[in-house]
Amino acid sequence: MVGALFYDQWRFRILQNQISAQSKELKRYEERYRSLVESAEDFIFTVDDSGRFRSLNTFTAAFFGGTPSQFIGQPLSNLFSKEVAEKQLSIIKHVFQVGKSVRDDFMVTTGEHQVLLNANFMPHKDEKGNVRSVLCIAKDITESKKLENHLVNTEKLASMGTLAAGVAHEINNPLGIILGFTDLLLEKCEKNSRLYQDLKTIEHHGLHCKAVVENLLRFARHGEGLYEYCDINESIRNIMDVVKHSLDMNDIELRLSLSPDLPEVKGDLRQMQQVILNLINNAAASMKNGGILWISSAIDANKEKVVVIVRDNGHGIPPEYMDKIFDPFFTTKSEGEGTGLGLSVSHGIVTKYEGAITCESNTTNSGSNPKGTTFKITLRIKQD
Ligand SMILES: Nc1ncnc2c1ncn2[C@@H]1O[C@H](COP(=O)(O)OP(=O)(O)OP(=O)(O)O)[C@@H](O)[C@H]1O
Ligand SMILES: [Mg+2]
Repeated sequence: MVGALFYDQWRFRILQNQISAQSKELKRYEERYRSLVESAEDFIFTVDDSGRFRSLNTFTAAFFGGTPSQFIGQPLSNLFSKEVAEKQLSIIKHVFQVGKSVRDDFMVTTGEHQVLLNANFMPHKDEKGNVRSVLCIAKDITESKKLENHLVNTEKLASMGTLAAGVAHEINNPLGIILGFTDLLLEKCEKNSRLYQDLKTIEHHGLHCKAVVENLLRFARHGEGLYEYCDINESIRNIMDVVKHSLDMNDIELRLSLSPDLPEVKGDLRQMQQVILNLINNAAASMKNGGILWISSAIDANKEKVVVIVRDNGHGIPPEYMDKIFDPFFTTKSEGEGTGLGLSVSHGIVTKYEGAITCESNTTNSGSNPKGTTFKITLRIKQD
């Protein structure tokens, strides 16, 4: 009897030790996972079926300007915009019902930051297989998406170039003939006659086609620069001589800041002038009621590149157009005012010389981002 009691106590103690060792092990695991989740620079959180936070890592809380304990129990809509929270909630409800993961992208804004998140919503099940909560792990894919878009754009532009060259050549000759004969007929007509007016209309539209074709050819032909290197300040000054008057007439104040003694950059002088002129024309078109045009050139901190900035305080480019502005024929201008080739030609020229052209724009004044558009051209320096 006593022996049996001792035996039970002994068994009990062994079990107790085992449990305590396992609890310690579990705790170690839990701490390891917690520190993994805590140190991750991803958004990690769990929510219940009504979309309230059950837990969230420090990174998520810090992004929204708080600490995890501040947000636990709060609905998604307190952190995300109404639209994003509603979309997330419908995904979460779906995951609760179906028990399977769902992936989706969201645009999230806090203050001046706007990031694109790729989020995976996963069911967190108990031992019976019922979904207890939904775990969301979301990555910031803003930069990789930008890069992807840029690559797609570059490829699109390259194939457009080949196509454009073919089409433009085919159209150029008949167009020349149409315009030539129109000219002849115009000479033979009475200036006030109806026929004269009709011919003038043909000439007007013919000339518009000619402008499109010339731009297309320039776009396709950016292999034909005469020189390999140029003084970028010289090309800016040359253009300024041409446009100064029309800027004045349009109440556009020019603020030029050209860094002296810049090394030569890779690029043909005339083609670079074409790029700067395109950017100035666009800037001027966005400041119909006047404004300020900043143009600067400088060498970058590593002394490897020359950076040219063309900035305006015009109406800006709406975010939904930002992906399209370098596309051939993308224009928001009315017919006859723009062909939509200026930026694609400029992009073609700059990238041909291994440079880069990027754009940032705001349609409203918000904090440190004033309304207007900034184009940045980065050019390679001539190596000795
Ligand atoms: N500085 C700017 N401010 C506001 N919008 C701009 C600016 N630069 C470009 N855009 C937008 O990008 C579009 C495309 O520009 P792009 O220069 O390629 O063609 P375009 O100016 O419309 O025509 P084109 O240059 O062939 O006469 C413009 O129609 C305009 O909507
Ligand atoms: Mg333009």
